Amino acid sequence: MSLAAPRVPLLFERLPELATLPMVPLAHVPTPVERAPSLSSPGAEVWMKRDDLVSPLYGGNKVRRYEFVLADVIARGSRHIVTTGGLASTQVTATALFARLLSLELTAVMFDQPVTRFAKQALLTNAAAGARLLHGGGYARTAAVTWREQRRPDRYLILPGAPTPLANIGYVDAMLELDAQVRRGELPRPDHIVLPTGSSGTLAALALGAAWLGWDTEIIGVRITDPIACNRLTVRLVLDATRRWLEARSPTYRSARRRAPRFALHGGALGPGYGEPTPEAVAAMDDVHRLTGAPGEVTYSAKALVGLRQLVRSGRARGNILLWSTLSATRPRPPDDARARVPRELAWVLDAHEVA
Ligand SMILES: Cc1ncc(COP(=O)(O)O)c(C=O)c1O
Repeated sequence: MSLAAPRVPLLFERLPELATLPMVPLAHVPTPVERAPSLSSPGAEVWMKRDDLVSPLYGGNKVRRYEFVLADVIARGSRHIVTTGGLASTQVTATALFARLLSLELTAVMFDQPVTRFAKQALLTNAAAGARLLHGGGYARTAAVTWREQRRPDRYLILPGAPTPLANIGYVDAMLELDAQVRRGELPRPDHIVLPTGSSGTLAALALGAAWLGWDTEIIGVRITDPIACNRLTVRLVLDATRRWLEARSPTYRSARRRAPRFALHGGALGPGYGEPTPEAVAAMDDVHRLTGAPGEVTYSAKALVGLRQLVRSGRARGNILLWSTLSATRPRPPDDARARVPRELAWVLDAHEVA
């Protein structure tokens, strides 16, 4: 279950030079767009792009990216992925589930973050999917363990957020999908697109896509981590790397008239740091659940909602605003014996106090 119907991505139609890139169909697209009256106010009409529904197995913003990344794993003859993420990482869960779907193995090195109910569920899901889970602890030890693991023969490393050009083109393609929806009259062209931003790949790709379409839409990333890890320079580096990658492979893209990408970062929803609950974000978890069905999650989706409301309230974002929904609405229910599959070094998480 859950491979999508084979398709030719809009990106390949527009840039035929890319059509030989390997791709596994995982994304059920186009994802719906819909009004969000409960988030709108006079002068600010909010819409949602439901990438939470992009796969019935596990949606969210990894799926479009993994169509190319996991195809690359297979094309390179590797059978074993190494990745790393926080205890509540959606990347680790997405990688565990899609790796199993494609008969690939996964070693995931988990770093500490405040323990939430969402993190406990994610751990059970990851373990039930057969991932080999290691506890990295702090950032430095996690980096060392990840380095050691990925050096073993035939391992394929996917960094947190997978902010590589090969992954990012999935979201350049998503902008073409949005453009087609605008042309069909399903929503107005957005003045702003708002989404949670960490490694910046999704933000950078949407900004590149909008610039290529000639839109003056501003892409606003609600920063979910500290400025040292996510700032205008880090976004710019990811954006430029992706642009250069496209230019190197596609004369059509190279010669296309493009605007300068427009993006901004909003830090007002972060609070004390990555994964740390704030009262506003804890309150917003229920709203995310009501809007999308996604289980309460504080790190990304709740803070994005808080950020969106701040932007609307302050008048910083006005007109037509599209909230790009990046957290899966679905997650397989872990089987009853999932707890027994969590390795001893991570079992403490299941009994830890939940901060949210
Ligand atoms: C639900 C969700 N939204 C947004 C993001 C941020 O995406 P990016 O790392 O491309 O900035 C992530 C990253 O893991 C995520 O899990």
